[in-house]
Amino acid sequence: MTTAGIDKLTFYVPHHYIDMTMLARQRDVDPAKYLDGIGQEKMSVPAVDEDIVSMGASAGHQLLQNEDKSSIDMVLLATESGIDQSKAAAIYIHELLGLPATCLTVEMKQACSSGTAALLLALDHVRARPDKKVMVVATDIARYGLSTPGEPTQGAGAVAMLISANPRTLEISPEYVTYTEDVMDFWRPNDREEAIVDGQYSIKVYIRALTECWKRYSETTGCTVKSFDRFCYHMPFTHMARKAHTHLNKRLKTDCEPQEIEEQIAASLKYNRIIGNTYTGSLYIALASLLDNEHPAAGTKIGMFSYGSGCMAALFSGTVANECSSITKTLGHHTMLNEREPISYGEYVDLYGRRSIASSSDIVWPHQTTAPFRWAGIQHAGRIYEQNTADQKTGTLRQTGVPHAGTPC
Ligand code: CAA
Repeated sequence: MTTAGIDKLTFYVPHHYIDMTMLARQRDVDPAKYLDGIGQEKMSVPAVDEDIVSMGASAGHQLLQNEDKSSIDMVLLATESGIDQSKAAAIYIHELLGLPATCLTVEMKQACSSGTAALLLALDHVRARPDKKVMVVATDIARYGLSTPGEPTQGAGAVAMLISANPRTLEISPEYVTYTEDVMDFWRPNDREEAIVDGQYSIKVYIRALTECWKRYSETTGCTVKSFDRFCYHMPFTHMARKAHTHLNKRLKTDCEPQEIEEQIAASLKYNRIIGNTYTGSLYIALASLLDNEHPAAGTKIGMFSYGSGCMAALFSGTVANECSSITKTLGHHTMLNEREPISYGEYVDLYGRRSIASSSDIVWPHQTTAPFRWAGIQHAGRIYEQNTADQKTGTLRQTGVPHAGTPC
């Protein structure tokens, strides 16, 4: 039987991070609140010349090493840090990565759950056309106000996934459930750079959505918590996954001991703890963390819960494929994370301030990131992207189109 799922999964995170103990001291908060209560040790901070496009292209660049690009006929980009109200960020990435002009290329939005919506649509596409592949990119900069309760739950990064028939990494079961409810727990109006959030309420709605999803999932599939070996959760902060998984076990009256409950999620928390929230990518970085750090055997069953404020949630499951460990070994995630460098509090505040920019003035950003792609600046209200220095030296500069000086209608 033809299966469908994640053939390959890579992620990119910025080179710099802020140490959470240092941030706690700056905020006059007990560091144990950030480290244990929220469950974050480091938080990714994007360079001045990085945004959702450059991060997404950098993740995609790694994904497509040694892959046949000609079979990709769809590029779906999920984000809640959109840079344009009209043009899809996916189009810049499509150009930077040299994908076929025949692709359907689009951007999707529903807070943190649009990465999952993109995945579910991509799966149906490859089930109907098993000779084709879809690239899903989930890319975000999680941003709250300085000194607000949300501040320690920021982060940045991008995930890129190749979705195909007969996948080498994770086969995804066709059964899934979704849950939608109109709530105002977290949102970002068009004229704001930072999200508005009712933090404690958002946690309640997350748990409610999980409960509702499980109720329907177990009714329709007959599965119980014991049907799965491991669980991955959308992770705005790692303690949220613990809260959710503990709640589930309690509510379903499983006889799992606390140690067993912890084992079911422990490996999935490792990366998010040192990256922070990546919104649409967060669930898939949790999956990468589980695969890279635990090397689960082929056949391991994983329950996946996706939550996007506003809200839409989804519950689905996957089975580790035969070639998973040989694929994940080649991806270099540990090296990328280990080579990162901390920045000072002053540098963090400076970078935070520089992100609040209008599109109306031209900008040329200094070279800061060493990622495969960078956001070079703004010209005639359009963003310019380019392949980074090493490639420029070899004369293979790939740049997105420089906009003509247009007239506002
Ligand atoms: N030592 C150890 N633990 C401590 C501590 C200390 N000194 N002080 C407090 N804690 C614990 C608290 O007991 C609490 O744990 P429990 O929930 O298990 O009781 C935890 O640290 C957090 O403390 P508070 O609840 O007092 O924290 P807060 O109100 O200042 O902020 C937050 C927490 C509401 C999550 C806030 O960071 C926030 O608003 N974040 C953004 C919104 C968010 O992430 N929501 C999650 C669901 S929505 C979603 O998932 C979508 C998304 O990606 C945004």
